[in-house]
Amino acid sequence: MQYEDPSFAADLVAWQKQHGRHDLPWQNTRDAYLVWLSEIMLQQTQVSAVLGYYARFLERFPTLASLAAAPVEDVMAQWAGLGYYTRARNLHKCAQRVVAEYGGVFPSDPALLAELPGIGRSTAAAIAAFSAGRRAAIMDGNVKRVFARVFGIDTYPGERKTEEAMWARAEALAPADDIEAYTQGLMDMGATLCTRSSPSCERCPMQARCVAFATGRTAELPIRKPKKATPEKSAHMLLLVDRGQVLLEQRPATGIWGGLLSLPELAGHNTIAPPANAGAAAAPDAYATPVDAAVAAAVSPFGTMESLERMLPVVHIFTHYKLHIHPLLVTLSARAALAGEERYVWLNAAALPDAALPAPIKKLLLELLGERAQARMF
Ligand code: ADE
Repeated sequence: MQYEDPSFAADLVAWQKQHGRHDLPWQNTRDAYLVWLSEIMLQQTQVSAVLGYYARFLERFPTLASLAAAPVEDVMAQWAGLGYYTRARNLHKCAQRVVAEYGGVFPSDPALLAELPGIGRSTAAAIAAFSAGRRAAIMDGNVKRVFARVFGIDTYPGERKTEEAMWARAEALAPADDIEAYTQGLMDMGATLCTRSSPSCERCPMQARCVAFATGRTAELPIRKPKKATPEKSAHMLLLVDRGQVLLEQRPATGIWGGLLSLPELAGHNTIAPPANAGAAAAPDAYATPVDAAVAAAVSPFGTMESLERMLPVVHIFTHYKLHIHPLLVTLSARAALAGEERYVWLNAAALPDAALPAPIKKLLLELLGERAQARMF
């Protein structure tokens, strides 16, 4: 096998025996119930948070049979506060399956364990290794970090190909002997030495073979999730001005800018839907051209349109998307009464600096105000 290297396991096992953790409550036992329960609790949850729950859970459910026989509500109650509650539901289902299908004795074959509810490939391997000494490979976030650094893997571990290669490595490196110390060693190294932000390389048994250490790349490896391109949206906003006032609309309480005053938006033109053959480089603005008729229709409840000017778009960046604001500057020749539409208000230009407006809208209005004041537009 391409990745075989017995000295990796030998070094890790020697380190684990001398420096690893040996007194966790789920260690020093081959009782599969105790091992399984701990591994499920330790999925997505740190040791320190698990300790109390583990002890209390075993007081209430001392055996697999007692857990299988209990109402699921009692199991949920014991789990309350630990989070990721699907784990508790699956735990209960799994206990019932092991009782019904295996006479209450967990199988030791990792492939059979992995078919039970809540037990994935890595958890199955950990249970098989700790409860039966079976040679099986684990692969969780900590192990991925250790491997990425030690072997200098510089592709994103969440990517299928990289993950498959890491599994192949893990399978090849797992030793036939001392699989418990080896498996615990990987976990201990990941949790206590090879930490995400400040690894203790000076104490690490892998230092001499670590590619990241040798090349000064512990901070870069593992490669972080590549950022997705920010989605882009476009909104046409009416900037209706009349006799020193600007028309504003109170936004709905929920959603972006909830409850704030803002410019009325033109409906139906606010999502960028590029044509199917659009190249990645195409400017989003190219797809957003409201017809004048749509502008006229949007303006008509407020009066008679005198002039329309398409101003340059303004880009605002939200956490999850980029908004291209296309202001449509409209003047009126006659203003209509606001007929019972309480969310609209004509605001004096002088009141804009103190109005409850979203920052980019306020900026846009104040800039316009500065520019056009002399032109007596406001
Ligand atoms: N995380 C997952 N399994 C663990 C174990 N057996 N000991 C410590 N941390 C773990």
